[in-house]
Amino acid sequence: MKIIAIVGSNRKESYSKKLAVYMQRRYQMNVEIEILPIEQLPMYNQDDELDPPAIVNEIKNRVKESDGVLFVTPEYNHSVPAFLKNAIDWFSRVDKVLVNKPVMVMGSSPGALGSVRAQIHLRQILNSPGIAALTLPGNEVIISTVHEKLDESGKLTHEPTIQFIDTVMNNFVDWVKKNKGL
Ligand code: FNR
Repeated sequence: MKIIAIVGSNRKESYSKKLAVYMQRRYQMNVEIEILPIEQLPMYNQDDELDPPAIVNEIKNRVKESDGVLFVTPEYNHSVPAFLKNAIDWFSRVDKVLVNKPVMVMGSSPGALGSVRAQIHLRQILNSPGIAALTLPGNEVIISTVHEKLDESGKLTHEPTIQFIDTVMNNFVDWVKKNKGL
């Protein structure tokens, strides 16, 4: 099973990136998770969407060919970062690579609310007609005070969070299989 991870932060020491790498390693026996280099996408411009730079189609094709997509988002000013929204805007046009794609959402924050407002917005965005993803209902992975739940190497060490994500990941794998008719 091939899952594409889309991380909503472009900073080097991003907790969201560390969580995506954690997911890659934790579930590598069952699922191949590839982190998509969305930092290579230019700023979306409708003038370019029919003949975009080659990298846009290359990245969109990786989404199109995947069995599912995992979003790992931080929260910027009570919503998703523009960095993430830019990628979604490209994906929502022309060949609309997220339509009917099984999606799982997770996110974190050093604060108390764990990116919950961004995740609510993200779920709403994923429901718009150009995207129309099959977002796994419920299963909200909201990681508050994330800096206290990762060790020096960036590995998740908070056992209740680990257990909860295991459950959600199982549910997501079932969701993807159901979509593939398995
Ligand atoms: C933030 N941060 C933040 N946190 C939060 O819980 N709610 C918010 O609305 C915001 N807003 C916000 C805006 C901007 C511009 C920045 C730079 C930061 C803090 C944010 O959660 C923190 O920087 C995370 O570490 C960002 O995620 P990554 O980069 O670690 O993945």
